[in-house]
Amino acid sequence: MDTRRLPLDRISSDALAASGLRYGLVDGSDRDALAAWDEADSRGFHDRRPDPEAITEHSQHVAHRRITGVWDDGIPDPHVPVATVASWVGALSTPGGSVPSWAISSVTVAPTHRRRGVARALLEGELRTAAAAGIPMASLTVSEATIYGRFGFGPATLSADLSVETKRAGWVPAASGDNGRLAFVSPQIAYESCRGLVDRAAAGTPGDFEIDDYHWGRLVGHFGDRDKRSASIRVVRYDDAAGEPQGVVAYRMVADKTDFTKHTVEIDYIRAATDDAYAALWKYLLELDLVTNVRYDVASADEPVLWMIRDQRAARVATSDHHWLRILDVKAALEARTYGAPGALTLGIDDRLGTATGVYRLEVAADGSAEVSTTDDAPDLTLDVASLSALYLGAWRASTFVHAARLVERTDGAASRLDAMFRSPETPLLSFWY
Ligand SMILES: CC(C)(COP(=O)(O)OP(=O)(O)OC[C@H]1O[C@@H](n2cnc3c(N)ncnc32)[C@H](O)[C@@H]1OP(=O)(O)O)[C@@H](O)C(=O)NCCC(=O)NCCS
Repeated sequence: MDTRRLPLDRISSDALAASGLRYGLVDGSDRDALAAWDEADSRGFHDRRPDPEAITEHSQHVAHRRITGVWDDGIPDPHVPVATVASWVGALSTPGGSVPSWAISSVTVAPTHRRRGVARALLEGELRTAAAAGIPMASLTVSEATIYGRFGFGPATLSADLSVETKRAGWVPAASGDNGRLAFVSPQIAYESCRGLVDRAAAGTPGDFEIDDYHWGRLVGHFGDRDKRSASIRVVRYDDAAGEPQGVVAYRMVADKTDFTKHTVEIDYIRAATDDAYAALWKYLLELDLVTNVRYDVASADEPVLWMIRDQRAARVATSDHHWLRILDVKAALEARTYGAPGALTLGIDDRLGTATGVYRLEVAADGSAEVSTTDDAPDLTLDVASLSALYLGAWRASTFVHAARLVERTDGAASRLDAMFRSPETPLLSFWY
């Protein structure tokens, strides 16, 4: 879907106009307008001023997004927006399927214009526009966990900051391999040859999001070289016995200034489409010479490598919220996944924005597929849309939400039925930040 053609949300436009601000879209092919928007976006994240190379990169890879800004014509440099947001639609993997999601990024408000409702106008504008366009879900990754709950988002995946002491870990050999092989590839070859395996891996991982060209090219060091980061990225690819790429890791070595034998491997990106590729890549990383530590900060909280090393205490895992989801259309979202157990539940959903409000009957058939309809029946469980969005992929237990008063159980046993139904066969995970 080309989100750039959708009209601006009237409610947000009027709210901003009432504060003397102008809400509008940026044409990605207008380099001056894009440069001014980039300046605001970088400033909002305390980054340095974008140089011409960064603006060109943006215009080549991101201009297809819906790029929105807010301008204050009364400031000395009215060309530069005082607030930014960008969005695009991609496939969010669910247990057993996928759902189109309205991805939101680059949410900034200039510190000179903060806390007067500008972000609220932007976020609610995005959500109403997405809902009006028939997109069932919105999603984002966040700078602060305190901002988005009020807009109906809930954290639906965890990410782990994983650190493994390599000398202590010890590799437990896997039973058998597929006789594949590892080789270094250039960032360009990785960019061109590994996208297919990354898409396959994402499709099988609930919570992962279809990677766009911009993030993909940056993660493997093919572009985004403003800080010369890609010069230190090494990329290793795993091909199966038939020569098909099945795994890739992009990493950097960080030296210990006082001891050359104690490098840390910082993994920027690792993805495997098969278990053999996964095992081969992790074994490679944990057995590197002149290395004492491997660190990966977008790991799963439930990484299989923890069960492939002899000493689990060689690994430190610190988890944090990662992929925040916001259900806009309850029926479409709940029908876009399969379920772990058959049965029926009636859910009463509260949504301050109104798009998800209602009582819904979820009926799961023996094959795990679901049908959802609105009903006048009394709900078995009541919760707000942020809690339903957090529970959507099966990353949390409904009983925990009952204890935390995030969910009210009105029929005995309904929370444990929800748990059995929402359970995911794979641990939900998002493999990158956007
Ligand atoms: C976060 C940010 C976008 C908020 O913009 P803003 O225009 O000041 O926000 P608003 O005035 O519209 O606030 C809307 C609501 O969010 C709350 N809020 C805003 N920023 C918040 C924060 N950092 N932490 C907690 N709550 C916050 C406000 O209190 C307000 O709450 P209420 O309406 O429920 O009373 C802005 O401070 C910013 O650009 N921060 C730096 C970049 C960043 O972190 N962006 C988010 C990327 S994920």
